[in-house]
Amino acid sequence: MTSRPAPKSFHVKSFGCQMNVYDGARMGELLASEGLRQADADTAELIVLNTCHIREKAAEKVYSDIGRLAKRKTGKPMIAVAGCVAQAEGPEIARRARAVDVVVGPQAYHNLPRLVRDAAAGRFALDTDMPALSKFEALPKRRVQAPSAFLTVQEGCDKFCTYCVVPYTRGAEVSRPWAALIDEAGALIDGGAREITLLGQNVNAWRDGARGLHDLIEALALLPGLARIRYTTSHPTDMHDGLIAAHRDVEKLMPFLHLPVQAGSDRILKAMNRAHDVGAYLRLIDRVRAARPDIAVSGDYIVGFPGESDADFEATLDVVRAIGHAQAFSFRYSPRPGTPAATMDGQIEPHVADERLQRLQAPIAEQQMAFNRATVGKSCAVLIERSGKRPGQMLGKSPWGQSVLIDGGAIGDLIDVEIAAAGPLSLNGRVSALAMV
Ligand code: 5AD
Ligand code: SF4
Repeated sequence: MTSRPAPKSFHVKSFGCQMNVYDGARMGELLASEGLRQADADTAELIVLNTCHIREKAAEKVYSDIGRLAKRKTGKPMIAVAGCVAQAEGPEIARRARAVDVVVGPQAYHNLPRLVRDAAAGRFALDTDMPALSKFEALPKRRVQAPSAFLTVQEGCDKFCTYCVVPYTRGAEVSRPWAALIDEAGALIDGGAREITLLGQNVNAWRDGARGLHDLIEALALLPGLARIRYTTSHPTDMHDGLIAAHRDVEKLMPFLHLPVQAGSDRILKAMNRAHDVGAYLRLIDRVRAARPDIAVSGDYIVGFPGESDADFEATLDVVRAIGHAQAFSFRYSPRPGTPAATMDGQIEPHVADERLQRLQAPIAEQQMAFNRATVGKSCAVLIERSGKRPGQMLGKSPWGQSVLIDGGAIGDLIDVEIAAAGPLSLNGRVSALAMV
């Protein structure tokens, strides 16, 4: 590699989960604090691809993006690969894609400015360390200006589900300290956030000493200016009584729960190392619904896990029917290198898994539509996040997490809206008279 001028502008493209969106925002803030200007993907001198390794399809996307960037009409930018592919495939990326200048893992991106300087000096720069001292302490203070903001409270995973790369790419479960989180929440609110979504691979495993996630939620609810609190993603075995009670007691905690069960067969759950059975999951949902009857229940499902029989798959359909989701995500099992399930007997033919996926998606889509339809005629508060496609149209979120299109209001308003119509993916609302709340 030869040396070149240091880049003066950047663009971050995030793939995958919300934690990547959060990391992408923080990398952007870091680069901006170093004097780089944000630009679009066609002109930026540095492109950060913040990648996802969860399924093969997601991981492969990065290589096609690198190929495109290497041939960019406006000149090849400096390319940094960040995120979970960087962590998992580190040096291999450099071998496979020579156009890459920087590789930086999810626990090391506070070093991005130094890595960029190294690359500008002509040295390929790689950092996939998982340092004991958290990157958060090295990052600049938040200055996001948006009505809805993410706040990572916990990272990593100790659960080791047999299909999942997260424990390897993100490392062990680590909770950020209480004081740092209250401080960051304050900075987000100062920047205009009215809603904060607490993020973690196992967000409900967050703790600081004797304090659990519900204590943090209660403390955040006391902050003036903050109207809404959400959290994601949770694991059933960390769904403690205090958090369930918070859904009853804390008004600012939104009625939405993303709690993946993954499969409906106890045999498959065991092979997945999920540490809970279907009965325990359903009892948990009953308890959450007793605390907050209107709660929107979201989930994740994997079909075609090794050894999944027709009967196992039917059990997954039964579980979906028993729950009644407001929304759910379903995936075809993707064997990931280094995970135990990738070498298990009984790998399922792709066409069988595809057929199961389609059969699962049908009831989920019906349930989602039914959930949306049930809100028609109701009034609810909508937090306006951005403008819609048509002039004057705005897009916001209902308490249950649905997108709501309305004519009127401004970004950051929390307004009372009557739901007039429902589609599969969004609602249409009318601003109620005297609506500002
Ligand atoms: N194949 C398919 N889906 C997966 N997920 C995690 N690992 C895999 C895999 N190897 C799904 C799980 C998880 C969601 C984020 O992605 O459902 O909850
Ligand atoms: Fe992956 Fe399971 Fe951890 Fe979720 S709980 S991140 S699915 S290992």
